[in-house]
Amino acid sequence: MKLILFAVSLLFLVVGEGTADRLLPKRTKRELASPLHVGGIRDPFGSYCQRRGGCCPGRDDLCTVPYLDTICYCDLFCNRTISDCCPDFWGHCLGVEPPFIGKNRYIMFFTGQTYKENCNLCTCGKSGRWECEQSACLMEPDMIQAVNRGNYGWKAANYSQFYGMTLDEGIRYRLGTQRPSRTIMNMNEIQMNMDPQNDRLPPYFNSAEKWPGKIHEPLDQGNCAASWAFSTAAVASDRISIQSMGHMTPQLSPQNLISCDTRNQGGCAGGRIDGAWWYLRRRGVVTEDCYPFQPPQQTPAEVGRCMMQSRSVGRGKRQATQRCPNSHNYHNDIYQSTPPYRLSTNEKEIMKEIKDNGPVQAIMEVHEDFFVYKSGIYKHTDVSFTKPPQYRKHGTHSVRITGWGEERNFDGTSKKYWIAANSWGKNWGENGYFRIARGENECEIEAFVIGAWGRITMEDIWLGHPQNPQNP
Ligand SMILES: *[C@@H]1O[C@H](CO)[C@@H](O)[C@H](O)[C@H]1NC(C)=O
Ligand SMILES: *[C@@H]1O[C@H](CO)[C@@H](O)[C@H](O)[C@H]1NC(C)=O
Repeated sequence: MKLILFAVSLLFLVVGEGTADRLLPKRTKRELASPLHVGGIRDPFGSYCQRRGGCCPGRDDLCTVPYLDTICYCDLFCNRTISDCCPDFWGHCLGVEPPFIGKNRYIMFFTGQTYKENCNLCTCGKSGRWECEQSACLMEPDMIQAVNRGNYGWKAANYSQFYGMTLDEGIRYRLGTQRPSRTIMNMNEIQMNMDPQNDRLPPYFNSAEKWPGKIHEPLDQGNCAASWAFSTAAVASDRISIQSMGHMTPQLSPQNLISCDTRNQGGCAGGRIDGAWWYLRRRGVVTEDCYPFQPPQQTPAEVGRCMMQSRSVGRGKRQATQRCPNSHNYHNDIYQSTPPYRLSTNEKEIMKEIKDNGPVQAIMEVHEDFFVYKSGIYKHTDVSFTKPPQYRKHGTHSVRITGWGEERNFDGTSKKYWIAANSWGKNWGENGYFRIARGENECEIEAFVIGAWGRITMEDIWLGHPQNPQNP
């Protein structure tokens, strides 16, 4: 027993000797904090501790300043050779020259230490140099600057939700509509008899203004490549709300499609809109509130078990056989659509359809510069044309077109545009929407446009659905 006590006190003695810090659990995190670096450093001579408003006399783990994608310290504890001090720690806090090691670096690194520069991992190599991956990033500062300096008619921004992703990851995880097969692409277009007298199309039209309260706000698909489900659910939601004259205004659940419409579909790894419409018509889906979206945590391909089935109750109608996955919601009504129809690629016919019946779904090719779109009338630019091929990529996406307009240029000509809703959240673009050049099939947005009606009976209209707050 005595022996044990002795051993313990010896341990304390050792601890007391100054290695105490090393054994304190709260230290661990700091010791492992990503190292600061010299190679690729943007501002090694910046005022960090100074801007922080001072230094801390002892050890203070909160005495930090953001530094690149990590933090640096302004407490005296960081005064070590292998250091997490801010670059101006020595000068500002100690009033001395930084301890230079080697030729022109004041911090020593271990081989194998890493940091992330935007989407690329940099590793301290054997030679003592930082070696960085060379992928094209989704948010390339050069591209953003070039768009904003140029006269392209739209402005770019750096989105924090995209920062640190590669362009390939953006295309893999943020889009998610397979190009329709040749058979589908050759689907007959509906005949529309435009009457030039009665079908005067206004220069500006916005569904959200014609049908207030019936056009649903853009959702955020996160890192789930399921625009096939998001755009279909969004168009069907608007159409049902418009057609029922607001008696039902369901926001239909993309997750219901992602998890349950699995035949020839890839969930969050991409899917087909014809399959999505087939499901909406034959099986139907519940609302977003009943079956909420769950962005994938680990692998974007994970789909989640289907938690909603329906059965026929006659006259083509269906009823859910399960409760809502969201246990706080008891309204598991199933909404269905009629078969979708293809519109012509003629701008005027697409416009008439939107004005008469509501938003339509469109396929579009998304290029590298679309991710940084902030405002204005988008057109694919040439800013990446001189860069290596890995900087120029595109993938197929689908969106919801809700209106159109025209903007006058100084020279009297005008720029025509579509108003469309994306599914990248409301902080992207113009409140989740974007405008894109109209009448020139920009990014193939006019190449494959789809409309559909909700399946609504007079009964639905008179009784309403329980979702509708006016019909509790
Ligand atoms: C900082 O470290 C150096 C070298 O170990 C030492 O000489 C100096 O006294 C230290 N400064 C402070 C304020 O602890
Ligand atoms: C872009 O945003 C990220 C994260 O919000 C930030 O770390 C980065 O410095 C920004 N880049 C530019 C060029 O503004």
